[in-house]
Amino acid sequence: MRSPIARLAGIGAAAPATVVTNADLEKTLATSDQWIVERTGIRERRVLQPNESQSDLFVAASRDALAQAGIPFQAIDTIICGTCTPDRRLPAAACDIQAKLGGGTAAAFDVVAACPGWLYTLTVAEGLIASGNSKKILALGGDRVWSIVDREDRNTAVLFGDGAGGAVVVPATDERGILATALGADGTLADLLNIPAGGSNEPPSEQNIRDRRIYVQMAGREVFKVAVRRMAQACHQALGKAGIRADDIDLLVPHQANLRIINATAGEAGVPLDKVMVNVDRYGNTSAGSIPLALVQADGEGRLRPGMVVLLVSFGAGFTWGAVVIRW
Ligand SMILES: CC(C)(COP(=O)(O)OP(=O)(O)OC[C@H]1O[C@@H](n2cnc3c(N)ncnc32)[C@H](O)[C@@H]1OP(=O)(O)O)[C@@H](O)C(=O)NCCC(=O)NCCS
Repeated sequence: MRSPIARLAGIGAAAPATVVTNADLEKTLATSDQWIVERTGIRERRVLQPNESQSDLFVAASRDALAQAGIPFQAIDTIICGTCTPDRRLPAAACDIQAKLGGGTAAAFDVVAACPGWLYTLTVAEGLIASGNSKKILALGGDRVWSIVDREDRNTAVLFGDGAGGAVVVPATDERGILATALGADGTLADLLNIPAGGSNEPPSEQNIRDRRIYVQMAGREVFKVAVRRMAQACHQALGKAGIRADDIDLLVPHQANLRIINATAGEAGVPLDKVMVNVDRYGNTSAGSIPLALVQADGEGRLRPGMVVLLVSFGAGFTWGAVVIRW
């Protein structure tokens, strides 16, 4: 087994205060609590109000992660944010977060990899530590998904919510830390989950707003099948690289998109359900915020102890996927 190069010195996560229940959605959409719970396991999600920002969540999560690490923000040399919903089109979300945390001159940039954004970010952070270019990294992931879903479309609106989190990543000093990561993508399937307009090909216009092309469009059933297959493969790949068997996993923290996808992925990966962290019922799919939110909750519930082997796995638009093995 390889010695870790980087470790997570502290973690934090934050979700908005406003709760939207399935019953709330029943008032405006042709849907039902029963349908949503049976098909997805989601009971409620958290959403930011118009006067709140995604960066507010990142600031709260960062402060918690820094406090747990015992590292002041001024010591951070690099800020990486996995998100596809920055506060504004320019600059990178990481720059706005840096300003709200107190400024400075740390390098700051975003990683756009949809739901696995935080796993991509952790992998980039590990590489920057390995090269010696960075020593103390704020590695964040989160999304304000509610801002990019069509609230009149029952196929997507019921699935998503807002959330953010992250970790302080520093050089490893012992056997604890990131043991392996495995990332992948298949851009040929991008049309199955995408936002057609609002990019440089089709800038926002009255017409594409009217046609609702500025919102997420998704072929749910197709996404479901590829998600399970790719997440299972990513788990096996990351475990293989780490030299660890599925039996050795103490906790699996999968992307929280749909309870059925979580159960199927755990089955394919060979991890029993009592070792799987689930909170999709409370938050829905918060994209890159999903795994940090689940990890922080697991920590709060005493499910993470030093020395444990933790497997993170995610899948999203791109398609992108990734898995990370950590000795906690
Ligand atoms: C979206 C998803 C929950 C739909 O579940 P499903 O079992 O595949 O359902 P289907 O697509 O077969 O649709 C079943 C029916 O429910 C209907 N339906 C869709 N959304 C509904 C809703 N919110 N309420 C009630 N009915 C709904 C569909 O219109 C369809 O009706 P029809 O049979 O008359 O055409 C599921 O496919 C899924 O989770 N996919 C992955 C999505 C995902 O995770 N995306 C993000 C990846 S990061």
